[in-house]
Amino acid sequence: MNIQQIPQHELARLREKAKEQAGSQFEYQEYYTKLLTRRLNGEPLQYIEEYIPFYSIQINVDERCLIPRPETEYLIEIIKNNIDSPKNILDVGTGTGCIALMLKKLYKESNVEAVDISEQALELAKENARINDLDVTFTVSNLLENVEKNNYDIVVANLPYIPTETLQNLDNEVINYEPIIALDGGPDGLIYINELIKQIEENDFKNLTLFLEVDSSHAKTIIENLNHWKDVKLEKDLVDRDRYIIAKR
Ligand SMILES: C[S@@+](CC[C@H](N)C(=O)[O-])C[C@H]1O[C@@H](n2cnc3c(N)ncnc32)[C@H](O)[C@@H]1O
Repeated sequence: MNIQQIPQHELARLREKAKEQAGSQFEYQEYYTKLLTRRLNGEPLQYIEEYIPFYSIQINVDERCLIPRPETEYLIEIIKNNIDSPKNILDVGTGTGCIALMLKKLYKESNVEAVDISEQALELAKENARINDLDVTFTVSNLLENVEKNNYDIVVANLPYIPTETLQNLDNEVINYEPIIALDGGPDGLIYINELIKQIEENDFKNLTLFLEVDSSHAKTIIENLNHWKDVKLEKDLVDRDRYIIAKR
């Protein structure tokens, strides 16, 4: 990347970040050059800025976690439109904690739990809980392995769904910086989503609504896999792609 390829609004944001950090004009130049160099090397702007707005909270981001995407903000909207007052919520593959924390903010009375296989991700999620003063229980778990209860009203998951073979086609910004564990969905991209559905059934989770964020190309297969669930619905994202699956059992 060269400086001409960086849009003006990004340069303005890098200047603001340098101003925030610098105590003098000399320091400003030094910080700005460092930040610009990181961007020129292809590092995502959000990691350089260190935080992003997510729905109505602020989320710190760094290389321990996937950068939450706008589609996931819209998932919050979908949940809000479907569920009034859940008592127990579980977020599987929480990453920065964005979904779990935002749901806690919306449903103040609810008990929100979140799991991730990555201890590093959970450190950041806990940091985000502190910053936002939101009480969510975070547990290290391979899907539902360390989840002891099965009485959730909502189970939500945005799990890795990129087929391993196509990881190499991702933008350099993504593949060189975001954690592979947050992207790689196994040979067909479906191993985690299918395994989660299986574990929910085996652990006899009942009276719950499942919300999945999925790749549009996987939607049909996942819906087939949920054929014995109730009220299975597919919702589109803001650019009209099949993106969210809602199902009850
Ligand atoms: C696509 S990222 C989504 C992060 C966050 N929920 C969001 O929407 O921005 C997937 C997350 O799932 C986690 N993950 C991957 N495999 C997992 C597993 N077997 N059990 C639990 N979490 C897993 C990753 O560490 C990562 O944080």
